[in-house]
Amino acid sequence: MKISVIGTGYVGLVTGACLAEIGHEVVCTDNDAAKIKTLESGGIPIYEPGLEKVIPKARKEGRLSFRANPADAIGAGDAIFICVGTPPLPNGDADLSAIDHVARLVATEAKSPKLVIEKSTVPARTGQELKRALSVYSRKSNVKFHVASNPEFLREGTAVEDFLHPDRIVVGVEDEAAEKQLKEIYRPVLERTFTCPVHATGCPDGPAPAWLVTTINSAELIKHASNSFLALKISYANMVADLAERLGADIGEVVRAMGMDPRIGPSFLSAGLGFGGFCLPKDLQAFVHLAERSGVDFAMLREAEKINKGRIDRFFEKLREALWVIRDKRVGVLGLAFKPNTDDIRFAPAIDLVERLLVEGARVRAYDPEAMERARAVLPKVDYVKSAYEAAKDAEALLIATEWDEFRKLDWEKIRDTMARPLIIDGRNLLSPRDMKERGFEYRSFGRPD
Ligand code: UGA
Repeated sequence: MKISVIGTGYVGLVTGACLAEIGHEVVCTDNDAAKIKTLESGGIPIYEPGLEKVIPKARKEGRLSFRANPADAIGAGDAIFICVGTPPLPNGDADLSAIDHVARLVATEAKSPKLVIEKSTVPARTGQELKRALSVYSRKSNVKFHVASNPEFLREGTAVEDFLHPDRIVVGVEDEAAEKQLKEIYRPVLERTFTCPVHATGCPDGPAPAWLVTTINSAELIKHASNSFLALKISYANMVADLAERLGADIGEVVRAMGMDPRIGPSFLSAGLGFGGFCLPKDLQAFVHLAERSGVDFAMLREAEKINKGRIDRFFEKLREALWVIRDKRVGVLGLAFKPNTDDIRFAPAIDLVERLLVEGARVRAYDPEAMERARAVLPKVDYVKSAYEAAKDAEALLIATEWDEFRKLDWEKIRDTMARPLIIDGRNLLSPRDMKERGFEYRSFGRPD
């Protein structure tokens, strides 16, 4: 099928590249001309594992192209995926102005009928507004549009894998034609008829993805409710961790046993610095606002947000307890991205942590395998170094803020010997307290006996 993708951020670029990978002809556009230029010249503006395989291959085979002029992209596709940003407004609501702008563009530029698919995360009922906007702005051309919602469940860092091997595909539609068209788009994923680019030995075994057809309102609600629930789960684990600390229990042992109950499940129970990124925090806020505007007081979500914001305070309590005075102390920070395997620092707890360290007068040396360039743009006063060893050298405390795998495998004896004081505060419970103690570290983490 011929498909247009509007917006080439994390979601749009992965969506466009993967749709091309499974055989469609995809044209992507973005209002950031520099980004399109990078993509046109073979660069990839974000770090997302797998894209480096998928994009060059699809481009070479002529199935993926990038256009700065949105009209070119809109004209090219029978189906148009809207993947533009919906950032938070100061009051926490989702800013839908980019969606509105795209609706106007599509309505005025389209010369033939289109299926317009919302992929961006939007509050329930946005689809109805999108439909209205498309019909208002296309009244001169009289082109007909179908609208659908197809929320994404892509996690940064594994987004290519998540797109090609999802556990469910949700399509919110209002008519059979839209459902049929979407099924055609996803058929290779549902039937696994594409050659898997991420697994050398082909697609992993496992059940085929569930195909869920819902109303547009439900599809929109599914996305917000899912992300908010994940946030809730993390904040719950963090509160249990605080309690475990007071009671001399071990959060690792507690959540391991809890997670074995299939009704609870093992994931999203890792305690520490809490959740960040461009999805969970903003979706949680937008969901609370949506509930408020709909006359529902979703206080438990507000509490989850408050708990999450308080994680940095908890971290600083530990740091202050260990260091006494923070001012002028040399501190190493490992990790700046909001989670491993991404260069994304948006709403990253690690960035909040470093900002606070600077305010408190610490001398910060930081290392992240992928996110330093982005971090430098927002935190220029930090000394960015090329390895975890350099970050630790002469430091009076080493702080772990993101659980990159490479941090698990460091030569800790070497680090201990170069630090001014062998103190580690582990904001991601990455290391074993016993192990670190045996190696001669003063080690503190979350919800575990020191
Ligand atoms: C999240 C959802 O997991 C995806 O399903 C969704 O598609 C995506 O948002 C989106 O809306 O686009 P993502 O933001 O990539 O994906 O990151 P997550 O893997 O959900 O992690 C979010 C944050 O929670 C990270 O800061 C991570 O460190 C933190 N986290 C996660 C914890 O603190 N504890 C946990 O147990 C798990």
